[in-house]
Amino acid sequence: MNENLVVFNARLVTPTGFEARRGREMGELLVMDNATVEVTRGVITYVGPNRGEERDGFYHRYWHYNARGRCLLPGFVDSHTHFIFDGERAEEFGWRLDGESYMSIMQRGGGIASTVKATRNSNFILLRSHGEDLLKRMSRMGITTVEGKSGYGLNRETEMLQLRVMRSLAKDERIRVDIVPTFLGAHAVPEEYRGRTDQYVDFLIREVMPVVREQGLAEFCDVFCEKDVFSVEQSRRLLSAARDMGFALKLHADEIVPLGGAGLAAELGAVSADHLLHASDKDIRAMADAGVVATLLPLTAFALREPYARGREMIDAGCAVALATDLNPGSCLSGSIPLTFALACIYMHLSVEEAITALTLNGAAALRRADRIGSIEVGKQGDMVLLMNDNYRFLPYYIGMNCVCATIKGGAIYSN
Ligand code: NIG
Ligand code: FE
Repeated sequence: MNENLVVFNARLVTPTGFEARRGREMGELLVMDNATVEVTRGVITYVGPNRGEERDGFYHRYWHYNARGRCLLPGFVDSHTHFIFDGERAEEFGWRLDGESYMSIMQRGGGIASTVKATRNSNFILLRSHGEDLLKRMSRMGITTVEGKSGYGLNRETEMLQLRVMRSLAKDERIRVDIVPTFLGAHAVPEEYRGRTDQYVDFLIREVMPVVREQGLAEFCDVFCEKDVFSVEQSRRLLSAARDMGFALKLHADEIVPLGGAGLAAELGAVSADHLLHASDKDIRAMADAGVVATLLPLTAFALREPYARGREMIDAGCAVALATDLNPGSCLSGSIPLTFALACIYMHLSVEEAITALTLNGAAALRRADRIGSIEVGKQGDMVLLMNDNYRFLPYYIGMNCVCATIKGGAIYSN
């Protein structure tokens, strides 16, 4: 989308800057009433007080939108999802309701393996249309950039199929969400490699990652660093190889047990470490020092009945915290931005302002895009959301309800 647009009479609400906001800075938003934002060919070219020109035809090449005092925020950035998959795991959800744990289901051959089976049996068209449907829902909740992971193929063919589906969606002009692809071949050990995790890591490093890189199919490499999945040592080996190939790094870290994934993220200079339910104090400090974005996924903790990550303490320790949905068919079949806001503020004790920064500028930083998106500033992409009223505090307060009345992508405005 590459449109010319002027939004006037807005209450502008945005973090500022071209990199992640850390610690106390996360709560500092620019709030400006009677604001105008001008977007020229998709890029923001003016942010400031209303100028009055909208009356005299100066802007005749621009669409005009009177925000009538409603809040205008940067588009939301969902920096951690697994939105390309086939099949469903409703039965497994029932087992969890009966008290069985996520890991126990995984250990007896369900969980991720079940989605791998369905995804291997799927095809390009089915995966694409399911993914497109999810992207439309995301857009209506104000998401303008999403990260998506492979990880339901666990062989070269299907891992690459997932990434090709994302590439095809990313190129589609009709789709209003930018997509950042991540290679997550190390999501689980496939049946064929059961008991041979090291050999599977070798296979990924030698036979899959170089091709993914060569074809430019993924920008990030991620790993499920977890007890009985990939150890810290195996994760280190995989991610070091990935770094040498030019991938930027992410980790699923300390989700189920405290293993030290967050510390590994700091050691390797990963862009983000995600989940962090059980990250230690020492590793939180290490992430703050290394500038690793701590990406928290409250919907998953909620769905797994696990304790929430210590968001408040991470911010107080000087971390840059991002929030994301973790949308996936197993641990968390939800991409709800409204509920993410509510859980982050109610249970992780983020202020509303911090949660906004976490879902915009810091989400962008978790995708190495804080220079291009994540705030409403001159030079950034014209990606914004217009809320239903003049009070941004409704984002967590109106629990689980969508407060977005229009999503603006590259200056093109889509009303809900
Ligand atoms: O982020 N923990 C690993 N990966 C996902 C779950 C994927 C799945 O269960 O299908 C997560 O929670
Ligand atoms: Fe995940």
